[in-house]
Amino acid sequence: MGCLAINEIYNMDCMNFLKQVKNSSVDLAVIDPPYNMGKADWDTFASHDDFMKFTKKWIDALIPKLKDTGSIYIFNTPFNCAFILQHLLKRGLVFQNWITWDKRDGLGTSTKKYANGQESILFFTKSNKYTFNYNDIRVPYESTDRIEAAKTKGILKNGKRWFPNPNGRLCGEVWHITSQRHKNKVNGKVQKQQHVTPKPEEMIERMILASSNKGELVLDCFVGSGTTAVVAKKLHRNYICADKSKKYVELTKNNLGVVQ
Ligand SMILES: C[S@@+](CC[C@H](N)C(=O)[O-])C[C@H]1O[C@@H](n2cnc3c(N)ncnc32)[C@H](O)[C@@H]1O
Repeated sequence: MGCLAINEIYNMDCMNFLKQVKNSSVDLAVIDPPYNMGKADWDTFASHDDFMKFTKKWIDALIPKLKDTGSIYIFNTPFNCAFILQHLLKRGLVFQNWITWDKRDGLGTSTKKYANGQESILFFTKSNKYTFNYNDIRVPYESTDRIEAAKTKGILKNGKRWFPNPNGRLCGEVWHITSQRHKNKVNGKVQKQQHVTPKPEEMIERMILASSNKGELVLDCFVGSGTTAVVAKKLHRNYICADKSKKYVELTKNNLGVVQ
């Protein structure tokens, strides 16, 4: 197996696609799969069990494609991630982070429990030897007055003077990133988007910068509007992506500037 060319977007079901990706060839998988929330036909399953059967199947097909130094990020609801995490552990992957995405969008409308405004991202690696470019994803310090003062005088910590990093602090595992849906609102009104669930580029950028290097291969088997491919290309990584929808493959190619 392994006949698929890189830097291409394939109109294929994830299972058929993964079968044809070369084993141990992928440095990073960025996976934003169905959530079973009924957002579209492709996001609708008969039951949670059916959804988990589908999810476990693509995970099992994907793991052999990762290099031993490879990493994987999987988006989903916190509830579904609790199940997905168990499966990844069972398959021997190494847990790194449970990232909480604070979507900075409108909250859910439930009045019987806390209103929902987050999604989860599981970050696992294939082994303990993996890329993590922490310096490339630093974020601004929050306590600016204190940091401003510390730039010149430093802060005394355990008998040593600590000076803030000029590029910002280390990136934490709670990500406050405005959803694409919210960004696209006009006068507070949700606009019809080209894809139902596009992810913000800055979020995918963080994953690709942290967990891959230039020239390496990024895979996404549910590429949607093409965010992973577009960001990978911009950051000089190679990509190999698929979506079962012809419409979304065309949208991705359009967003990549590929002449069709
Ligand atoms: C959550 S969306 C991905 C959105 C994407 N991250 C973006 O930024 O636009 C999931 C995508 O998976 C595709 N999909 C669903 N089931 C699939 C399957 N079995 N094989 C391949 N693609 C599938 C859908 O068409 C949809 O575009």
